[in-house]
Amino acid sequence: MSSDPMAPASHRGEALPYDLLDEGERLTCEQLREFQLHRLRATLRHAYENVELYRKKFDEAGVRPDDCRSLEDLSGFPFTTKADLRDTYPFGMFAVPMEHVRRIHASSGTTGRPTVVGYTDNDISMWADVMARSIRAAGGRPGHKIHISFGYGLFTGGLGAHYGAERAGCTVIPASGGMTARQVQIIQDFKPEIIMVTPSYLLTLLDEFEKQGIDPRTSSLKVGIFGAEPWTEEMRREIEERMGIHAVDIYGLSEVIGPGVAQECVETKDGLHVWEDHFYPEVVDPITGAVLAEGEEGEVVFTSLTKEALPIIRYRTRDLTRLLPGTARPAFRRIEKVTDRCDDMIILRGVNVFPSQIEEIVLRTPAVAPHFQIQLTERGRMDHMIVRVEARSGAGADQRAAAAKMIAQGVKNGVGVTVEVEIVDPETLERSVGKLRRVKDLRRA
Ligand code: DLL
Repeated sequence: MSSDPMAPASHRGEALPYDLLDEGERLTCEQLREFQLHRLRATLRHAYENVELYRKKFDEAGVRPDDCRSLEDLSGFPFTTKADLRDTYPFGMFAVPMEHVRRIHASSGTTGRPTVVGYTDNDISMWADVMARSIRAAGGRPGHKIHISFGYGLFTGGLGAHYGAERAGCTVIPASGGMTARQVQIIQDFKPEIIMVTPSYLLTLLDEFEKQGIDPRTSSLKVGIFGAEPWTEEMRREIEERMGIHAVDIYGLSEVIGPGVAQECVETKDGLHVWEDHFYPEVVDPITGAVLAEGEEGEVVFTSLTKEALPIIRYRTRDLTRLLPGTARPAFRRIEKVTDRCDDMIILRGVNVFPSQIEEIVLRTPAVAPHFQIQLTERGRMDHMIVRVEARSGAGADQRAAAAKMIAQGVKNGVGVTVEVEIVDPETLERSVGKLRRVKDLRRA
């Protein structure tokens, strides 16, 4: 058996050596379910006894923590939404006295108040454990250098990855986001094996490599751990080819902990194992809220099982995916790669359009770069979509025209809606330094 976690494709598909798995990863399915029920009941009690909002919601729904006698009983408990966190802004959902809250993070919140989350010492330690587990699943080993380009600050990406990388015994390069030219310099000089970054910012870094006349495939990087925003399989292929690395997916959200809720294994790249000993997943119908069977697509909902400062019960993520059985970590179920959010769905003249569908088409088209933006405007009384895509440098007028036609056709055939495609000059669209906003809605309210 090859012990190189970053071995080439022909060596993939092997399980991680047993001694590299942590205690939680060694649980059998039966042990895991037992643990989950025990922890779930404790979490429901903790939430009910210490958070007014939960007490009110449970009482209104006529449920008590002790009514949860099996994991299935959780479906009788009320959901929690972003609005609940906003309504109790900033600290109303904290379940421990402030002197036990060691750290605060907040999600930027594109509209309205940000959502604020808190962590006790134990929460921070558990987070470091699950992040370290994620990094190992991605191929990280003690002695590896990890370049972290997730933003440091109130956003959970930077510090979450940082503590996990330290816990995994790696050497951290806390680059944060921005100062792109310097990041490339640092990668060239410090020679990290792993980078953790949003896929959209990696594209910015890739362009910078090329601008500096460096072939990104010659860098020391072997693995990229990408998350914080949706990205498609086409994007994975683009990144793996241009950078010559394994691109694996990390998922998480601040309300649940931050990054490290679920992670793809480098040896299988077949969806993300949910670290179920700490986060209990359900997939529900986004409209009715009914729990769906394994394999059915819907909105993923999480309940924390060990959190102290901010226990979260049935949190509606708005992320669309489905639950699948475990593979590389057999006891932990997987979620399929999250490429769409309920909130990102655009209804264009009656047709549902997701930005990921446009991404797939753009990335399959020759002569254009993977940089695009979706603009929503109005033509008369009709909604109108313009897909603005950057040409690759050196693409001539004929190639650009052909690309525009191909993208418009692709969207018409694949999605069923007519859009306008505008091919713009290289380096004219806004670049990401963190999470990218693909859609610009210029319609009047
Ligand atoms: O983005 C936490 C994170 C940081 C995850 C770094 C991974 C890496 P929030 O800012 O609260 O937290 O945003 C959470 O981002 O509900 C998803 O819609 C989206 N998201 C996060 N990871 C992925 C992913 C962090 N791998 C929201 N694929 C989530 C798709 C993702 N979407």
